[in-house]
Amino acid sequence: MFSKMNISIKRMPGLCGRSDTEKSAMNRILEKLSEIGIVPVIKIDDANDAAPLAHALSDGGIPAAEVTFRTSCASSAIIAMREACPDMIVGAGTVVTVAQADEAIAAGAQFIVSPGFDPAVVRYCISRSMPVLPGCVTPTEIMAAMNIGLDVVKFFPASDFGGVKTIKALSAPFGQMKFVPTGGVNENNLEEYLSQSSVLFVGGSYMATGAMISSHDWQSVASKSRAAADVVARVRG
Ligand code: 3PG
Repeated sequence: MFSKMNISIKRMPGLCGRSDTEKSAMNRILEKLSEIGIVPVIKIDDANDAAPLAHALSDGGIPAAEVTFRTSCASSAIIAMREACPDMIVGAGTVVTVAQADEAIAAGAQFIVSPGFDPAVVRYCISRSMPVLPGCVTPTEIMAAMNIGLDVVKFFPASDFGGVKTIKALSAPFGQMKFVPTGGVNENNLEEYLSQSSVLFVGGSYMATGAMISSHDWQSVASKSRAAADVVARVRG
């Protein structure tokens, strides 16, 4: 049974210079994402779609989004989503350079996600008191993340790297590590991922696909989000 996560970024060497207030602000974002349980991974082509998308996700009970830097309007979309729904937690995804991390933070991103582990990107985020989730799928990558001070990583692409079975195997040696599986998370396996005590929350695009966004199908976004929120409540409630 899922028990409330104990998220601590306290042992981060990179956080030694951070005040308690800064550390707890970082933890609070991860705690809120853990409570929401699932973070929609967004690829948005038109920043004008950001505000209605934010409303649809929030109306569906998922007040969170990871806006990927796969399109040129990512930072404008982050600004628009935060303006439209100030209570929503909006982060940046597919952040692969320090420059992108900087741009995302300037736009108001509240967390940073990267597909892989890059020490420069991670250190930069830590120096800016920004929660950062680098993609780690091997023991070596996880150890690199631990040794820089992280205790939460993205597990990506989750289904291609063995899904829940691999997360369970990794949790044996890395019992303190929490995972955010993303990539292949869908309605059929959401419950299984959320049931793992080592899973902090999951990420996925299925509640707000590119097709739904470009066709302004906000009703589908809200209803898929509502169904996901119901699973979170049932599994973790
Ligand atoms: C990601 O960027 O994290 C993934 O591409 C999302 O994967 P999904 O489209 O399989 O949910």
